Amino acid sequence: MRSVLLLNGPNLNLLGEREPAIYGSETLESIIRRAAEFAQSLGIELRHLQSNHEGALIDALHEARGWAAGVILNAGAYTHTSVALRDAIRAIGLPTIEVHLSNIYAREPFRHTSLIAPVCVGSICGFGANGYLLAVQALAWILAVKNAENPSRRSE
Ligand code: DQA
Repeated sequence: MRSVLLLNGPNLNLLGEREPAIYGSETLESIIRRAAEFAQSLGIELRHLQSNHEGALIDALHEARGWAAGVILNAGAYTHTSVALRDAIRAIGLPTIEVHLSNIYAREPFRHTSLIAPVCVGSICGFGANGYLLAVQALAWILAVKNAENPSRRSE
């Protein structure tokens, strides 16, 4: 079974109570449970970490080099500010999918720029908590394509 890192950034631990009109009323715990169950059904083990600290997110990305086949990342507000996170994604070379619950392009202008989007395989935003499931599906597809291209690594 392939393993994937699901990484959530600042303030996402408050999902469920934080601005529900924008982010919905589901807690992070519930979202992660649903995403992990869906991933399992696709043959993927999801390992989750949430942190409010930029350095901890970067450390988690570095460590993922040793065990993960890919990354699903909601970097929260660091999406719009962090060159360091962008550099870390580029540095580890793992296929990474950017997720946002809200449609960042329909919000304040400062949210329209994602510094991490150019180093991700693709981005999913505006579908609420279900965006995490869409990201799992996208990553499963990417890993299946990679596997087909490198049959010798199929057992990994
Ligand atoms: C967010 C969008 C960001 O702009 C914001 O700072 C967040 C959440 C989202 O999931 O919609 O914290 O990443």
